[in-house]
Parts: sequence; structure tokens; C-alpha cells
Amino acid sequence: MVMTTPIRIKYRPTFLSVLTILLSLLGAGTLRAEPLDCRRCHSDLEKARVTHSPFAAGECSSCHQLALDKRHPEQKEAIVLVSDGSKLCSQCHEALDTAKNVHGPVASGDCIFCHTPHSSPNDKLLKDTGIAQCLNCHENKFQQKYMHGPVVEGKCFICHDPHQSDNPYILKMGLPALCLSCHDASAMSGKSIHAPVRKGNCLACHDSHGSPYRKHLRKDFQENFYLPFSPDNFALCFDCHASEMILDRRTDSLTDFRDGDRNLHYLHVNKIDKGRSCKACHDAHAAEQAKLIKRKVPGFGKWEIPIEFQKTSTGGTCIVGCHKPKSYDRIKTNEF
Ligand code: HEC
Ligand code: HEC
Ligand code: HEC
Ligand code: HEC
Ligand code: HEC
Ligand code: HEC
Ligand code: HEC
Ligand code: HEC
Ligand code: HEC
Ligand code: HEC
Repeated sequence: MVMTTPIRIKYRPTFLSVLTILLSLLGAGTLRAEPLDCRRCHSDLEKARVTHSPFAAGECSSCHQLALDKRHPEQKEAIVLVSDGSKLCSQCHEALDTAKNVHGPVASGDCIFCHTPHSSPNDKLLKDTGIAQCLNCHENKFQQKYMHGPVVEGKCFICHDPHQSDNPYILKMGLPALCLSCHDASAMSGKSIHAPVRKGNCLACHDSHGSPYRKHLRKDFQENFYLPFSPDNFALCFDCHASEMILDRRTDSLTDFRDGDRNLHYLHVNKIDKGRSCKACHDAHAAEQAKLIKRKVPGFGKWEIPIEFQKTSTGGTCIVGCHKPKSYDRIKTNEF
């Protein structure tokens, strides 16, 4: 913050007196030789819990000035602000429009839309608190069935800078660093990492504020481990992957999870009653084994079913708690 107040106090009397003499010589209107004591008549101005330093110090003239040829309060236009918009504030504060992305009202110098210049009951001289200050201008898209924790608490500024940022959407940090400042980064690493996660594109699957779907996913991905198959239950995955990989009983191209042309995705997932969810085998983020195959999945009660997946160049072997070890091979068929 650049503080210029002391300098202004130091030089103003000299400047004013020189100006007064000059103007009286020219006869250009009335400028009071003695400055108006603003607080004599404006003692009623509210002094809330948080006061702005120059206001509290009675330095009214750092922001207001008396027009040279006018009388106050007789003439309404007698008192004018020393500058417009953000220039008024940047006399003493660093400019807030220097980053790559500047928030709309900051760019247009509307500082006093959010801040009061004198005093406020709220910290940082804010007129409103929480989400209310944003909803003055932004549509309320923040009422979804599943809301993100910090949004529910109205902590918009945990993620967004109110003024400016070099990151898109005036975010305080880039992605995924922002998300991983609160969420466990270790869940995003392993032998295999899902391509969009590796790129830090959490928003490919999650909405940052909230969503009609659980885990604020952009599309549905059902909770249950077993469920009757329908592509809609895994709409999220089929946004990027072809649903035919589960729909066709036989294929020699749609998936590598096949024995000869027998589609093992179809076999496990596509059932009328107890089809398995993708998460019976895959982690959506990352896993210790190849192809996002989890090490363990929930079993019965506290028992977790271990999965050991060994990949070969033409197939693989699964050693699992649910059936005896099985191998598949795309070239020469196996036991399936
Ligand atoms: C403190 C609560 C709050 C948050 C959080 C907030 N806004 Fe904005 N906001 C805007 C305008 C105008 C834009 C630019 C819209 C555009 O470019 O489409 C914007 C854009 C944004 C963007 C997108 C920036 C980008 O780079 O695309 C975000 C994020 C944002 N505001 C968050 C007017 C406001 C106003 C009106 C005085 C208020 C209050 C306001 N905004 C309060 C808030
Ligand atoms: C002699 C008493 C008096 C003094 C001294 C005085 N004011 Fe006022 N001021 C008033 C009154 C009365 C009004 C209300 C005028 C109205 O509502 O039409 C007013 C109105 C204002 C307004 C609002 C103008 C508007 O457009 O609504 C501002 C700003 C203001 N004063 C600032 C100041 C500042 C800054 C000083 C010191 C340089 C100051 N006043 C000194 C009596 C005074
Ligand atoms: C940091 C700059 C700043 C300082 C310092 C400041 N003001 Fe203001 N004042 C403003 C601005 C900006 C407005 C216009 C507010 C608006 O339009 O909402 C304003 C408005 C006013 C008004 C109009 C009524 C109101 O409350 O909106 C009065 C009266 C006033 N100021 C008096 C004073 C007095 C007296 C002092 C010194 C004790 C003072 N101001 C110090 C910036 C300042
Ligand atoms: C004459 C100098 C001056 C001007 C002009 C000025 N400020 Fe300040 N402002 C200060 C000082 C001094 C502080 C206290 C700094 C500190 O405590 O670190 C401050 C603090 C603040 C704070 C933080 C308050 C808090 O409680 O932490 C905000 C917000 C603020 N100013 C906004 C504004 C806005 C908006 C404007 C323009 C309307 C403005 N200032 C114009 C001198 C000024
Ligand atoms: C959209 C609302 C909004 C606008 C517009 C806005 N601010 Fe702020 N400002 C905030 C919020 C919210 C905070 C508090 C941020 C926090 O606590 O992390 C803040 C904090 C500040 C602070 C205190 C910084 C600190 O670190 O203590 C200053 C000074 C400030 N703003 C000045 C300005 C100036 C000058 C402008 C105009 C160029 C402006 N603000 C425009 C919302 C806004
Ligand atoms: C957990 C971090 C986080 C929180 C908390 C958060 N946002 Fe965002 N916001 C984002 C991210 C990331 C984006 C950019 C991409 C997207 O989701 O569309 C964004 C985008 C935006 C946009 C621009 C795009 C749009 O949807 O219009 C606005 C406006 C916005 N946020 C406002 C808010 C408001 C208001 C709040 C508080 C209620 C808030 N944000 C809280 C992370 C967050
Ligand atoms: C400021 C901390 C914070 C940041 C930053 C943050 N989150 Fe969260 N997140 C939470 C909290 C607290 C919860 C728990 C409350 C809830 O379920 O919404 C949560 C919950 C979640 C959940 C749902 C978890 C569940 O069990 O239902 C997902 C998914 C999520 N966050 C994703 C993200 C993504 C993606 C980002 C980055 C855009 C992000 N979070 C940034 C704090 C944060
Ligand atoms: C390809 C889609 C996808 C991407 C990309 C993605 N996620 Fe997720 N995420 C999911 C799915 C699906 C779930 C729910 C899994 C389930 O049903 O248990 C989830 C759950 C979560 C949860 C809740 C964890 C829990 O224990 O319930 C958090 C937190 C989370 N994701 C954060 C992130 C973060 C941070 C990123 C970016 C680094 C990210 N996600 C990227 C699909 C994705
Ligand atoms: C935003 C797009 C996107 C979404 C949504 C998505 N994926 Fe992916 N997925 C990819 C991309 C890109 C690859 C890499 C494709 C390649 O290498 O050919 C991939 C690869 C995979 C792989 C192979 C991993 C490896 O290590 O080779 C699996 C398994 C997978 N996805 C499962 C899922 C599941 C389950 C879901 C739903 C929870 C899902 N995907 C949702 C984009 C997505
Ligand atoms: C019974 C375990 C199991 C289930 C359930 C399962 N997969 Fe897979 N999936 C695998 C195996 C094993 C591979 C690795 C095949 C290979 O490369 O040999 C794989 C590979 C993939 C791939 C990489 C491309 C391919 O087909 O070879 C994608 C994408 C994928 N699965 C998506 C899904 C989706 C989406 C679901 C849920 C609709 C799902 N999987 C359900 C075991 C499973």
C-alpha cells in the first residue's frame, strides 16, 4: 500500500495559501481562507465498528474538496470528490487493476459499490458480508441440491480474489492447486492417473459451486456398487467414453477388457439386476495399479475385497476375492 497522506498534509497549506493569494488577485470567486471544519456540522456521520483511517483522523479533504467558487452547504454542488472512481482510492492504495484478469466493478472503478468510504460494521469496510455482496450483481446459481462446503458458508473469497488475479475467473490459485489446498493430493497419484486428473482438469467432472448430482459431479455417477445397468447411471463417464464399450456383448475393438471378442465390461456391468458399477474396479482419479484398477473395493461389512491386477501385452489376470484368479487374452481366448 502506498501511503501518501503525510506528504499531502505537509504540502497542502503551502499550495492552498499560494492558490488563495493568486485567486484573490484574479478575483476568481470565494475561497475561504480558513478551511471548513467539516465535523462541526457533520458530527452525525455514523462511526461504525470499523472506521477508515483518513475518515477517523478527520482528513475529509483527502477525498472531498470545496469548489473554489461555491459556498457550502448553500450550494449543493459546492463539495466535490477530489477524483473519480478508483483514482480516489489509488491516492493511498495500490492500484488493483494491474493483473491479467480484473473483476468487472474494479475495472470500472466502482470501489464504493462494495466498500464504504467512511465506516462500516463489517471488516474491510464492506457494505455486505458473505454471498450477499456477490448476489447484488450475480445471478443466484448457488442453490443446487449438492452444494460445495465453502460456497454454503458464503466464503467466495477463499477461492476468488475480489479484485484481480492472473488466474482465470479471478481465482486465487490455478487448478488443481486450488482444490488440493483443501483436498487430499495423495488420492490423485499412483501408477495410473486418469488423463483429465493428470491435466489438473478437476472441472471436467466436478462443478466448483454445486450440482444436482452427488459429489457435485457435472453428470450422474450413481452411488451404488451394484445396480441394474443403464448408461444414464454412468452418464459422467460416457461424456468422454463411448457407451458401446458396455452395450455390445461381443467386440474386437470397443474395449481391451475382452477375452477374444467376448466383452468383459459387458459381462460385469451390463446386467438387469446386479450389474457392477465402474467403481467396483476403477478409481475415477488414480490408482496404484494399471488402468485405474483399485487395490481394494468395499466388500461385505468391514471386509474389503482385494484386487490384484496383472496386465499383459494382450490381456491380463485378476486375482480377486470374488472369484478364482482369471485371465483374459484378446488374441487367444481363455476361460471366460
Ligand atoms: C464478492 C462477491 C463476488 C464474487 C465472488 C464475484 N463477483 Fe463479480 N462480476 C461483475 C461483472 C460486471 C463481471 C464481468 C462479467 C463479464 O465479464 O461477463 C463480474 C465477473 C465475475 C467473475 C468472472 C471473472 C472472469 O474472469 O470471468 C467472477 C468469478 C466474479 N465476478 C465473482 C460484477 C460484480 C458486482 C457488481 C457491482 C459485484 C458486487 C460482484 N461482481 C461481486 C462478485
Ligand atoms: C455549516 C455546516 C456545514 C459544514 C461546515 C460542512 N457541511 Fe457538508 N453539509 C451541510 C449540510 C446542511 C448538508 C446537507 C445539504 C443538503 O442535504 O442539501 C451538507 C451536505 C454535504 C454533503 C452531501 C452533498 C450532496 O451532494 O448530497 C457532503 C459530501 C458534505 N456535506 C461534505 C462536507 C465536507 C467534506 C465538509 C468540510 C469541507 C462539510 N461538508 C462542511 C453542512 C455543512
Ligand atoms: C476515503 C475518502 C473519503 C474520506 C476520507 C471522507 N469521505 Fe465523505 N465521502 C466519500 C465518498 C466516496 C462519498 C460518496 C459516497 C456515495 O456516493 O455513496 C462520501 C460521501 C460523504 C457525505 C454524503 C453523505 C454520505 O454519508 O454518503 C458526507 C456528508 C461526507 N462524505 C462527509 C465526510 C466528512 C465530514 C469526512 C471527514 C470526517 C469525510 N466525508 C471523509 C469519501 C470520503
Ligand atoms: C488519504 C488516504 C486514503 C484514501 C484516499 C483511501 N484510503 Fe483506504 N485506507 C487508508 C489507510 C491509512 C488505511 C489503513 C491501512 C492499514 O491499516 O493498513 C486504509 C484502509 C482501507 C481498507 C481496509 C480497512 C480494514 O479494516 O482493514 C479498505 C477496504 C480501504 N481502505 C478502502 C478504500 C477505498 C475503497 C478507498 C476509495 C474510496 C480508499 N480506501 C481511499 C488510507 C486511504
Ligand atoms: C466486488 C466487491 C469489491 C469491489 C468492487 C472492491 N473491493 Fe476491495 N475488497 C473486497 C473484499 C471482499 C475485501 C476483503 C478481502 C479479504 O478479506 O480477503 C476487500 C479488501 C480490500 C482492501 C483491504 C486489503 C487488505 O488486504 O486488507 C482494500 C484496501 C480494498 N479492498 C480496496 C479496494 C479498492 C481501492 C477498490 C476499487 C478499485 C475495491 N477495493 C473494490 C471487495 C471489493
Ligand atoms: C471452491 C472454490 C470456489 C468457491 C468457494 C467459489 N467459487 Fe466461483 N468459481 C470457482 C471456479 C474454479 C470457477 C471457474 C470455472 C467454473 O466452475 O465455471 C468459478 C467461477 C465463478 C464465476 C464465473 C463463472 C460463472 O459460473 O458465472 C462466478 C460469477 C463465481 N464463480 C462466483 C462465485 C461466488 C459468488 C461464490 C460464493 C458464493 C463463489 N464463486 C465461490 C471456484 C469457487
Ligand atoms: C477452502 C477449502 C476447499 C477448496 C479450495 C475446495 N474444496 Fe471441495 N470441499 C471442501 C469442503 C469443506 C467439503 C465438504 C463439504 C461438502 O461435502 O461439500 C468439500 C467437498 C468436496 C467434494 C464432495 C465430497 C463429498 O464427500 O461429498 C468434492 C467432489 C470437492 N469438494 C471437489 C473440489 C474441487 C474440484 C475443488 C477445486 C475446484 C475444491 N473441492 C476446492 C472444501 C474445499
Ligand atoms: C473423470 C472425472 C473426474 C475428475 C477429472 C475428477 N474427479 Fe473427483 N470424483 C469423480 C467421481 C466419479 C467421484 C465420486 C466417486 C464415488 O462415487 O465414490 C469423485 C469424488 C471426488 C471427491 C470426494 C472423495 C470422496 O472420498 O468421496 C473429491 C474431494 C474429488 N473428487 C476431488 C477432485 C479433485 C480435486 C479433482 C482434480 C484434481 C478431481 N476430483 C477430478 C470424478 C472425477
Ligand atoms: C473429461 C473426459 C473424461 C471423463 C468424464 C472420463 N474419462 Fe476416462 N479417460 C479420459 C481420457 C482422455 C482417457 C485416456 C484415453 C486414452 O489414453 O486413450 C481416459 C482413460 C480412462 C481409463 C483408462 C486409464 C488408463 O490408465 O489407460 C479408464 C479405466 C477410464 N478412463 C475410466 C473412466 C471412468 C470410470 C469414468 C467415469 C467415472 C471416466 N473415465 C470419465 C477422459 C475421461
Ligand atoms: C470388473 C472390473 C471392471 C468394471 C466393473 C469396469 N471396468 Fe473398465 N476396465 C477393466 C479392466 C481390467 C480394464 C483394462 C483392460 C486392458 O487394458 O486389458 C478396463 C479398461 C477400461 C477403459 C480403458 C479402455 C478400454 O476399454 O480398454 C475404460 C475407458 C474403462 N475401463 C471404463 C469403464 C467404465 C466407464 C466402467 C463402468 C461403466 C467400467 N470401466 C467398469 C475392468 C473393469
